Amino acid sequence: MLPGALWLLCLAAISTRALDTTDAVSLTGTLTTASTVATSDFTGSGYTYLTSTGQRTVSTLATTVLTGTMNETATSSGGSDSQATASSASQSVTALVGGAATTSGANGTASSTTSSALAVNTAPCNNYPEFCNRKYSNITEVCAHNSAFSITNNAASNQQLTITQQLNDGVRMLQGETHWVNNTVYSCHSSCDLLNAGTWQSELETIVSWLEQNPLDVVTFLIVNSNFAAGTTVTNYTAAIEASGIRQYLYEPTYVPQHREQWPTLGEMILSGKRVVMFMDYNADQTTVPYVLDEFTHMFETPFSPTNQTFPCTLQRPPGATTAHAEANLMYIANHNLNLAIDVGAITGDASAESILIPQTSTINITNGAENQYGRLGAMSDNCTVEWNRPPTFLLVDYYNVGLPGPGSVFEVAAKANGVTYNRQCCGASSTSAAAAAPQARRSYVALMAALVFAVVLTR
Ligand SMILES: *[C@@H]1O[C@H](CO)[C@@H](O)[C@H](O)[C@H]1NC(C)=O
Ligand SMILES: *[C@@H]1O[C@H](CO)[C@@H](O)[C@H](O)[C@H]1NC(C)=O
Ligand SMILES: *[C@@H]1O[C@H](CO)[C@@H](O)[C@H](O)[C@H]1NC(C)=O
Ligand SMILES: *[C@@H]1O[C@H](CO)[C@@H](O)[C@H](O)[C@H]1NC(C)=O
Ligand SMILES: *[C@@H]1O[C@H](CO)[C@@H](O)[C@H](O)[C@H]1NC(C)=O
Ligand SMILES: *[C@@H]1O[C@H](CO)[C@@H](O)[C@H](O)[C@H]1NC(C)=O
Ligand SMILES: *[C@@H]1O[C@H](CO)[C@@H](O)[C@H](O)[C@H]1NC(C)=O
Ligand SMILES: *[C@@H]1O[C@H](CO)[C@@H](O)[C@H](O)[C@H]1NC(C)=O
Repeated sequence: MLPGALWLLCLAAISTRALDTTDAVSLTGTLTTASTVATSDFTGSGYTYLTSTGQRTVSTLATTVLTGTMNETATSSGGSDSQATASSASQSVTALVGGAATTSGANGTASSTTSSALAVNTAPCNNYPEFCNRKYSNITEVCAHNSAFSITNNAASNQQLTITQQLNDGVRMLQGETHWVNNTVYSCHSSCDLLNAGTWQSELETIVSWLEQNPLDVVTFLIVNSNFAAGTTVTNYTAAIEASGIRQYLYEPTYVPQHREQWPTLGEMILSGKRVVMFMDYNADQTTVPYVLDEFTHMFETPFSPTNQTFPCTLQRPPGATTAHAEANLMYIANHNLNLAIDVGAITGDASAESILIPQTSTINITNGAENQYGRLGAMSDNCTVEWNRPPTFLLVDYYNVGLPGPGSVFEVAAKANGVTYNRQCCGASSTSAAAAAPQARRSYVALMAALVFAVVLTR
């Protein structure tokens, strides 16, 4: 990592220079090398992967059947072996039918029984009525990579639009780096000196506000615990979870780990009110904190932070997982964000310095493209579907609002994977021009490079 002082210089330089579009600093060959791919192998000391041999059953949540009729705010929860009905006394007569109920045997063996005849449902669950009776694990959703990092004129941003706009537009998985600083969880990119999007609690509060306004939606949040190696664990996150108000929405699975076919339907989750699924990549502990799920016993990821348009659909994490296990039990994230690796070492002369990865915004329209053409999201989704016999559960992208043939392309890809038609407006609540994103970020990238040069000159 860069010494703190150097980051601070960069930050200062970025903030003062990012708006300068006529930046005169020339970038020499040495400075633009950026040759190394900073993808680490994710198996160093500190990385702990839970084994997923065996499964335990969380008895309190088993054998619950939920069917119901609900109006816009109705929620219901039932006890064991009961059929809970949320009755609607007023206007709406929307039927949200839970579908199959899950019963579990003594050692967690699952079997499915079908509940009463399904009514025709017209309420959209995550924007599509068809999804209400589909399992959470059987739906492809768009994931906004580093959702909170939508800071204007910062090259380390991953998004242009805010979390609220992301959710309004149809993004249903939020994800992001978090750092434990001053006994508080912050949403920061690489370092809080480079990009600080505020406390994680404030991010959760934004999500809670949205959930209150949108009672028929299920949202997933993947916590990237950046300080796992220093001992930050899930318990460092519980205070923010409790204080933000999101705790009441957090889904606790029936099985630990819960296999792909064992997930409830979106309708069941919505009726039970447990419609936020929170995962953590490292140092989750479902015994202590049952509402934050261990990521890699539930899903795998394709190579993270690629700098290569090939976007292979191979399993990178959890390392060592067999194809058979992944096929049978795991959901998966297709990482489809293209990066520039800025080789800090080439600039500072410090061979041990890490590269930093920032979104390659100049080609983001192609990367997010809906078509089945080389390097585009449409191609990755199709190729992954062939390789794993089902589409990705999550499509992780930067600047989700930009794409070809136009804004919303990433949602077209998800809709195709889901067998539904995308016909919503995209993107952003205001009339902000999506096309403005890339040039702006590119200027910012130049400013970052200039800042690094600037900082090195000053420190030599
Ligand atoms: C339906 O909505 C009304 C307000 O419009 C609310 O008072 C009532 O509690 C809701 N029904 C349920 C079952 O929550
Ligand atoms: C546990 O499940 C396995 C596999 O289905 C079965 O063979 C075994 O008999 C079960 N054990 C108990 C105690 O139910
Ligand atoms: C959902 O499950 C069906 C049946 O296994 C499968 O054909 C389809 O590809 C799955 N879709 C997603 C998005 O997982
Ligand atoms: C942590 O505290 C130090 C000392 O007060 C302060 O300089 C720094 O900005 C704080 N970090 C964050 C991310 O707020
Ligand atoms: C996590 O929080 C605990 C207190 O709950 C604290 O002692 C510990 O230092 C924190 N972890 C890190 C890495 O700071
Ligand atoms: C991209 O990855 C593919 C497959 O791993 C490899 O064959 C190709 O050389 C890579 N391209 C670059 C520019 O590194
Ligand atoms: C992608 O966007 C860039 C910059 O906005 C533009 O120059 C380029 O022509 C676009 N590519 C395509 C294939 O439309
Ligand atoms: C996806 O598959 C097609 C053919 O099946 C291939 O032409 C293409 O290069 C593959 N990869 C990407 C990234 O498009």
